[in-house]
Amino acid sequence: MTDVISATPTIPKIGDRAPDFQASSSKGPISLKDFKGKWVILFSHPADFTPVCTTEFIEFAKKYDEFEKRNAQLIGLSIDSVYSHIAWLLQMEKIYGVEVKFPVIADLNMNVSHLYGLIHEHASATSTVRAVFFIDPEGVVRALIYYPASTGRNIDEILRVLDSLIYVDSFIIATPANWKAGDDVIVPQPATLQAAKDRLKDKNLNVKDWFLAIKKSPK
Ligand code: BEZ
Repeated sequence: MTDVISATPTIPKIGDRAPDFQASSSKGPISLKDFKGKWVILFSHPADFTPVCTTEFIEFAKKYDEFEKRNAQLIGLSIDSVYSHIAWLLQMEKIYGVEVKFPVIADLNMNVSHLYGLIHEHASATSTVRAVFFIDPEGVVRALIYYPASTGRNIDEILRVLDSLIYVDSFIIATPANWKAGDDVIVPQPATLQAAKDRLKDKNLNVKDWFLAIKKSPK
């Protein structure tokens, strides 16, 4: 049988083990397992020295401490060389006064890009889309976001998703639309008829309906 080359990239899914990698970066060789025990935010950008990517990196650099506070390691990636990364990061320091303290992978051989489905051939066969992978301290993919090259990401949204993931790991809750840390949370819906009847009588919750109940954010 002949091999069929598919244009559909293989994308790790929520709940999958994040593929390990070894790669060159602006901070020397790195591998995913170096960061075991931390959240990893692995994000790709299409190319160095491009305007939207520059604005994103400035915002990631400004919010670096917010990621640190959450025990989260930022890792950037594009299909550019280490020297290109160095020159671009130096320029950002010189012109915008922001220091990029996290590693940026130079994925010239596209190994990591293929492992994480970062090249969407119908968009570009030679550059990565804007992807964000949220990998938990156990190395499991917990969320992923994909944008096209023309849409810059909202770094506060990435922090918001991270907060939600950290929160739902600590408490049996879910977070509603537009939730931010500190806002009210959702209590999981009951799974039996009796539990639904009990939920309707629960005075400790803000019960909108048997399947939608809200409570104050636990501390
Ligand atoms: C940008 O970052 O501005 C960009 C990069 C690749 C394609 C289009 C825009």
